[in-house]
Amino acid sequence: MAKQEKDLSVLFYDTLKDIYYAEKQILRALPKMAKAAQAEELRNAFLEHREQTQGHVERLDQVFELIDKPARGKTCDAINGIIAEGTEIGEDFKDTEALDPGLLAAAQAVEHYEISRYGTLKTWAGQLGLTKVVPLLEATLQEEKKTDDLLSKLAQSVNKKAAA
Ligand SMILES: [Fe+2]
Repeated sequence: MAKQEKDLSVLFYDTLKDIYYAEKQILRALPKMAKAAQAEELRNAFLEHREQTQGHVERLDQVFELIDKPARGKTCDAINGIIAEGTEIGEDFKDTEALDPGLLAAAQAVEHYEISRYGTLKTWAGQLGLTKVVPLLEATLQEEKKTDDLLSKLAQSVNKKAAA
């Protein structure tokens, strides 16, 4: 029996399923992180990013449609691990000054994971000639980067408070 050919388009679809799963897990995690956050600005940032994340899922739905494949998630152990660490910080540092810096760090780890995934997917989409897919991935990539910048700025004030 011939081995199924595993080319870049297969890898692209696989990675798309990975980030689709990740976005859905993030959708579920963000309200919990918002609830745990002490600083109002941090809570708002988490809630705002949840709205954005909904848009990211919708864009991925469009990408699946454009490549004519079913929109499916594939368990991503990396994002599960990052989210689990965030949950653990939320529990271990509850009612302490270190809680918000810890939640922020966890959220930035999530963003960096997403930035890495979307950057790769965008490049592959270009190589595969998926010209309509590239701008969709680029739009989300830019939003993830913006969120990461916002979290970096928030970290300056939140960490200062924690260290005071
Ligand atoms: Fe996202």
